Amino acid sequence: MSVQSAARRLTAPDIRARKGGEPIVSLTAYHAHTARLVDPHVDFMLVGDSLGMVMHGLETTVPVTVDMMILQGQAVMRGSARALVVVDLPFGSYEGSPQQAFATAARVLKETGAGAIKLEGGRRMAETVRFLADRGVPVMGHVGLTPQAINTLGSFKALGRDEASAALILDDARSIAEAGAFSIVLEAISEPLARQITQEVAPPTIGIGGSPACDGQILVLEDMLGLSDRVPRFVKKFAEIGPAIGAAVEAYASEVRARSFPGPEHVYAPKKS
Ligand code: KIV
Repeated sequence: MSVQSAARRLTAPDIRARKGGEPIVSLTAYHAHTARLVDPHVDFMLVGDSLGMVMHGLETTVPVTVDMMILQGQAVMRGSARALVVVDLPFGSYEGSPQQAFATAARVLKETGAGAIKLEGGRRMAETVRFLADRGVPVMGHVGLTPQAINTLGSFKALGRDEASAALILDDARSIAEAGAFSIVLEAISEPLARQITQEVAPPTIGIGGSPACDGQILVLEDMLGLSDRVPRFVKKFAEIGPAIGAAVEAYASEVRARSFPGPEHVYAPKKS
């Protein structure tokens, strides 16, 4: 008799079907061990290109490569069993043409086993979103503040707070929704705009600085755990793990210096012959 594994991993259509229902819960994850901790509590995990800043100390996400995303995507897949895993396409790996985007997305999905990709941009990416969706690649969109565009934006600040900017972001969200995105991240935009987009578009919206009006929420795990030095206004720290790590390392260092660690319980005795 064959035994089936108990839980099925969530898919992009499962997330798509949650529009207007129970809020969708998500966090970023970059490692197998954090993925293991996060997996039971979220609907999807994003292997975000924010890993360039959070894990590697880069100033922006611009230098992140496809190889970096694949390595961490593989780790997150190994550490999880239930949540959908979405992997970001990094800057320069998809904007050139729909064909370039398909080649990168296919490589990411084949080499990681993840269930979807995310890319940044609205109207300018709509043709690409349709091209990918038509060819079996579930696409999560990302509009509002798009960190990969930092060199044209100039700074990481909230957008859509005046009429002209709000109209552009609404048009961006509508374009990629119509093109077939299965969900859309709304980053750092005003609440009325997030509410309007969420009411108007068919796929669920996932807010990060997008207000409770969105269909779901995402945060960078390290930000909400209190491991990041500076965090944007939209982050709530649900824990302060940073000082706890500092205190543990300080205690370890002083015990090593005092020769009180390792203690007898950590030492191997010779085998009795
Ligand atoms: O890279 C990332 O972590 C993201 C989230 C901020 C949505 O894109």
